[in-house]
Amino acid sequence: MNYYSQPINIFEYEQLAAESLSKMAWDYYVSGAWDEITLGDNHAAFERIRFRPRVLVDVSDRHLETTILGQSLALPLLIAPMAFQCLAHPEGEIATATAASQGNVGMVLSTMSNKNLEEVATAYQTSQNSPISTPLWFQLYVHRDRGLTRALVERAYAAGYNALCVTVDAPVLGVRERDKRNQLTLPENLQLANLATLSGLNIPETQGESGLFAYFAQQLDPAVTWRDLEWLQSLSPLPLVVKGILRGDDAVRAVECGARAIAVSNHGGRQLDGAIASVDALVEVVTAVDGRAEVIIDGGIRRGTDILKALAMGAKAVMIGRPVLWGLAVNGQAGVCDVLKIIREELDVAMALCGCTHVANIGDILQFEK
Ligand code: FNR
Repeated sequence: MNYYSQPINIFEYEQLAAESLSKMAWDYYVSGAWDEITLGDNHAAFERIRFRPRVLVDVSDRHLETTILGQSLALPLLIAPMAFQCLAHPEGEIATATAASQGNVGMVLSTMSNKNLEEVATAYQTSQNSPISTPLWFQLYVHRDRGLTRALVERAYAAGYNALCVTVDAPVLGVRERDKRNQLTLPENLQLANLATLSGLNIPETQGESGLFAYFAQQLDPAVTWRDLEWLQSLSPLPLVVKGILRGDDAVRAVECGARAIAVSNHGGRQLDGAIASVDALVEVVTAVDGRAEVIIDGGIRRGTDILKALAMGAKAVMIGRPVLWGLAVNGQAGVCDVLKIIREELDVAMALCGCTHVANIGDILQFEK
């Protein structure tokens, strides 16, 4: 029985998604690592930050559009890379990309997608209603097989992706105990679409552990270091985004290695449990980077007010993860469009109430807990 025929916020979408997903898919999407402390803290940390709104500002004309890496966005929002989207809906990443493109927001495609990167690029490009390029980024996991890693980058470039987003917080996969309990694997009709065609790789069936965990241990390279960022850059002209930074000194190192954007992230609490909330790392990273790269953030963003707080702390844009999966599970592409619309409207109202007229000029509107 659905309580909400039409969800009006992300939390209602989450509740509906819980009813429509299989237990294995729900557990995979919703869970964090170990005791899920970081998972819970990601949103709680946003809640601890309060506004000091400005009043009597003419806010009749509000501008949400911005750029990231020179690419245009209708609002400062990208969809974070998330694996296995066909567990939520048969159209999976195609539906997500189409919705992102129609809303002129960014889309970051995971290496571990169920639809292949070429078809997702086509879906994003053909749905676009803006003549200016918007962000369609490819998220890369570095495999032990460097030939395969190189081939992924070359394919992404050839397909029209306009940045390479390298995830650096997963030398091994975090332990998500629900996936271990469920022995997470992909149903027979689903594949690791980018990898199956290249090399026949897929998620193994396992005894007593998550198949994704086993895949990571076998295929991904835990020896990746800063020097590999230079190699990755040499593979294509794509600008580099480094995702998974939680410290100012690491952010500076990434910039020195050529990163054009830093994604402050703890992987949605799915990697190191006990890591700080991503928003608690944001000011340190913005200060350390000092304008030499753009800073984006993800983790726990569920309201337009969370986006406004991140922007006020110096982020150029944010990424959202699970809310998109909830929209996808509830109503496919239309569900993702609606989730994006809800977030946009919330950001717009929050800006008006804080006396902000432009996302690029939010000003000093926050109070932090003492
Ligand atoms: C992820 N995330 C992720 N990150 C990445 O770099 N590559 C990936 O393949 C995945 N896969 C993935 C699957 C699922 C189901 C989730 C929920 C997350 C992490 C993701 O990009 C992002 O960092 C977080 O999801 C952001 O947190 P919220 O918005 O989900 O709280």
